[in-house]
Amino acid sequence: MHKDLVYREINITLKDQEYPIYVGHQIISALPEKLRQRSVNRQIAIISTPPVSRLYLKNVIDTFDQGWDIITYDVPDGEISKSTQEVNKIYTWLIEKHLERRSTVIALGGGVVGDLSGFIAATYLRGVNLVQIPTTLLAQVDSSIGGKVGINHPLGKNLIGSFYHPKMVLTDIRFLYSLHPQEFICGLGEVIKYGILGSPALFELIENNLESILNKDQTLLAKIVFDCAQIKARIVEEDEREQGTRAYLNLGHTFGHALETFYKSEGLKHGQAVLLGMRCAIQAARQMGLLEGTIAGRINRLIKRIDVQIPSPGKMDPRALLAIMKRDKKVKDGQINLVLPVDIGRVCLKPVSDEKLLEASFDVLDEPSV
Ligand SMILES: NC(=O)c1ccc[n+]([C@@H]2O[C@H](COP(=O)([O-])OP(=O)(O)OC[C@H]3O[C@@H](n4cnc5c(N)ncnc54)[C@H](O)[C@@H]3O)[C@@H](O)[C@H]2O)c1
Ligand SMILES: [Zn+2]
Repeated sequence: MHKDLVYREINITLKDQEYPIYVGHQIISALPEKLRQRSVNRQIAIISTPPVSRLYLKNVIDTFDQGWDIITYDVPDGEISKSTQEVNKIYTWLIEKHLERRSTVIALGGGVVGDLSGFIAATYLRGVNLVQIPTTLLAQVDSSIGGKVGINHPLGKNLIGSFYHPKMVLTDIRFLYSLHPQEFICGLGEVIKYGILGSPALFELIENNLESILNKDQTLLAKIVFDCAQIKARIVEEDEREQGTRAYLNLGHTFGHALETFYKSEGLKHGQAVLLGMRCAIQAARQMGLLEGTIAGRINRLIKRIDVQIPSPGKMDPRALLAIMKRDKKVKDGQINLVLPVDIGRVCLKPVSDEKLLEASFDVLDEPSV
């Protein structure tokens, strides 16, 4: 690592492997050196997408000297690329380029590129090295960590996939400066989620500095990304295969996914849906006597400072929302288990009746101004 590079490191220790997450500003130049330390061979396949590669691919390639063999591939931007068709095209490309077992696939992009490239790395030749270079806030605090890789099926999102961990995650917060504000807000939804589920200090930091964070203050960003990555890393270490506490990461996501599906044509984004979903979970926790009113008020005030509107309020139908929630792959025996906040920094997982779910979504989503 160059002497003047400032970065922080988180180590994830799992049953069969461990790997580092480096978080810093302008740390991309450390990539070749860090790769050498992970004893990979010198053949690298970078997978990206035009909005990202246009801005950063040259910069990434320029960090390598001539001894490396680098090939690059752009997938079309967006969720559409998480498909078997795209996977097949990439397999063909890798076979034609003779990518070997000890070679490395680098995912340079947001969650879409990360999930897809991870799936490729997990399956091509029964597994090659994977490095995640996340470029969205959501990917930096969430999708690049934890080893969930996969693609979509025409019948549902993320239905095909595996657990496959990278050799390392290199998180350069400089990438976030070119991010569209809406994408930034989406990541912020997840950041607030981490505060509510695992860190009163992080929650307070966001509460006290929301405007500076929205203005992408470098020091704050580096701190927040690091803290969130660390919370996720610790949860993944505790529950690698999502059999217990990892489910806490779904705070706001049961309602959120349903809202995302319901408002798909209006373009409600994942992070926006999660912010609204967290408010529904807070309301459910209130009704069940699990969360004090003053604390619920404090969390709601922070979420409301991020202006997320329901696309067309008149269309809202809590019963349709409930029906979508019941189709969720995480629902067991028709029973919906919800992650519910009990304090700032603490959540629990409890079954919630249909009546309570309906009530909570009515209360939150029927407000004239949500
Ligand atoms: N594996 C997991 O654990 C996990 C967790 C959460 C979400 N996900 C997945 O992540 C995906 C969503 O990820 P996302 O929100 O990062 O979306 P995304 O990858 O589609 O990126 C959002 C948009 O930002 C652009 N972009 C990316 N980096 C940029 C940059 N630095 N500057 C400018 N533009 C940039 C992209 O090209 C895209 O248009 C979904 O497919 C979801 O299923 C996976
Ligand atoms: Zn999410």
